[in-house]
Amino acid sequence: MKANVTAHADYTIAPIDDRIYGAFLEHLGRAIYTGIYEPGHPKADKQGMRTDVLDLVRELQAPVVRYPGGNFVSAYNWEDGVGRRDKRPTRLDLAWHTSDSNAVGVHEFIDWCDKANTAPMLAINLGSRGLDEARNFVEYVNGPTGSHWGDLRKSHGHAAPFDVKMWCLGNEMDGPWQVGHKTAHEYGRLANEVAKTLRAFDKSLELIVCGSSNSDMKTYPEWERVVLEHTYESVDHISLHMYFANRAKNTANYLALNHKLDAYIGVVAATIEQVRALKRSKKRVTISFDEWNVWYHSNKADRAILDGNEGWPHAPRLLEDIYNFEDVLQVGCILNTFIRRADVVKIACIAQLVNVIAPIMTEPGGAAWRQTIYYPYYFASAFGRGTALRLSVKCPGYDADVADNVPYLDVSGVHDAQAGTVTLFAVNRHASDALDMSVALEGFGALAIVDHQVMTHADLQAVNDLKNPLAVTPKKGKGAKIDAGALKAKLPPLSYQMIRLAKA
Ligand code: AHR
Repeated sequence: MKANVTAHADYTIAPIDDRIYGAFLEHLGRAIYTGIYEPGHPKADKQGMRTDVLDLVRELQAPVVRYPGGNFVSAYNWEDGVGRRDKRPTRLDLAWHTSDSNAVGVHEFIDWCDKANTAPMLAINLGSRGLDEARNFVEYVNGPTGSHWGDLRKSHGHAAPFDVKMWCLGNEMDGPWQVGHKTAHEYGRLANEVAKTLRAFDKSLELIVCGSSNSDMKTYPEWERVVLEHTYESVDHISLHMYFANRAKNTANYLALNHKLDAYIGVVAATIEQVRALKRSKKRVTISFDEWNVWYHSNKADRAILDGNEGWPHAPRLLEDIYNFEDVLQVGCILNTFIRRADVVKIACIAQLVNVIAPIMTEPGGAAWRQTIYYPYYFASAFGRGTALRLSVKCPGYDADVADNVPYLDVSGVHDAQAGTVTLFAVNRHASDALDMSVALEGFGALAIVDHQVMTHADLQAVNDLKNPLAVTPKKGKGAKIDAGALKAKLPPLSYQMIRLAKA
């Protein structure tokens, strides 16, 4: 099978906002406790943060990490997590039927972000709480000393304002499962008042309003229209979430799901434009896709805890999806979609980062390792910076549940004009046929291949686990070449590739 692609330096989609390679950490399961934080672990630093996990996080180069939830945030009191640790209350977490010691709170998280070379994105509780607590939280984090909240922060050991720029106005407020779930009108009005109040404190904050929890919600996409009609002039981004699953064990349908993602982004982009027109506004709200990942492997195992049959455990194993090789292909396709929608998606966060539906796993007291999906996320984050190219792709396709004529080749291209590099991320969705990919390279000058990484495996179900953490890893690609101004590469059936070109 053949795929003919054309890339031209002048034919671009948009500059990529680096923050599309962001991540998410929630007070859920072992994400925080025995994930990033485990005092007493042989690799813990003085603050109890695991340095083996920090090393892996730094390698991923996530520019932003969202915290502290998720569903958790909708009944969270930020005040529980500040001040002396021995005075912090243990609270019941109503979202996940667990308990939380509050040993980690906003100070510890932001300190961890500094160590991880990332920026915090904080979520505010607009479920069980409202405007005043939101305003107090933001003033506590960013306010000057000489004021009540700034002085309280100083008394907890941090005089300088933390200067957190990105704030989520609640989480999944359209979801009936959410503590304090609201209608679009109720939420839109509240979010607008909170946004106005936060802007009165600091105009430069970047505010993110909740869109739909997924595109199967009954209220989608009317939710987006109503919420944006309330908030259009006071927010910067609208948040979307989507999780992917292969419950039917149908690889072809599974690997087509990023077409549903693309349609979801397209519809919300159109809704933004509709509201912009209604408001006669110059401003362009954009999308923060701040939760995405594969999530289904752990569903059954989690039932007992979520149904409350285990009491209120602290940091139990929850949502610990063990990813397989097939999920590498899915994550590659998802990231390609965000690159191709760089015009409107300005933030995206893999959900989550450690232990909970995560690329990084840990064993309490033991090792930390890379799950299979770590690799496509790493390649995109490390090498997918620059301008998204509008590629022309000619390739046979197949009909799937969510879309017709899904091309066997899923590909994105990124040009970094300053560094003189072009990077291609490609997935062959075909189960049995290799793809002969030819990419005509126009307007870039002479290029040479400087890196070529391939992920392929005889077993779609192969996983990396504690016993065998290196079962699925990238290998150096062979045989790719530049021939008469075109890149030629063979893509094995069901494979992922990253090919990096630089000025010859
Ligand atoms: O990431 C897991 C959960 O998925 C989050 O808490 C919630 O926002 C979403 O439903």
